[in-house]
Amino acid sequence: MKNIILIGFMGSGKSTVAALLSKKLRVNCIETDKEVLARSHRNSIGEIFVKDGEMRFRELELEVASHLGDRKDVIISTGGGMVINKLCIDHLKQNGVVVYLETSFEVIEKRLNGDDTRPLFSDVNKARKLFQFRKHLYEEYEDIRITTDNQTAEEITNSILEKI
Ligand code: S3P
Repeated sequence: MKNIILIGFMGSGKSTVAALLSKKLRVNCIETDKEVLARSHRNSIGEIFVKDGEMRFRELELEVASHLGDRKDVIISTGGGMVINKLCIDHLKQNGVVVYLETSFEVIEKRLNGDDTRPLFSDVNKARKLFQFRKHLYEEYEDIRITTDNQTAEEITNSILEKI
């Protein structure tokens, strides 16, 4: 089996869907944010951004992606910014099919209302601009696109399984 790499903006449901895919396919699920955190010696993603800066976070993301390039039979849920460095995607694509979870900003905004764990969503206007910019990157790297608005995580998971 090729790895399944989930990409998409913050709040698009990557982690939830990755967990469901992992259960259905009986393969391991890896969250790149968790791997980054483990390498950072910090307590949260927010703390990495505040104490080490976003650049350090992106360096760790690249390290994680390069290690995951060799893995087989895993579901990989990426952080929403993984696509800003093409090298990361090149590593992940080595053994994997990239699935873009496309979600509208309106839905994301509702979902992440009050969330204080995502440093890049603390200002909703900046987040909206980031969304517009990132959208093109997700589209560039996708092998498969799943439109997720109005679909349950279970339905999204089934659509992915039908398409791969
Ligand atoms: C980020 C998304 C986050 C996390 C970090 C940066 C981004 O992951 O990696 O806060 O740049 O979009 P999620 O997409 O899981 O929220």
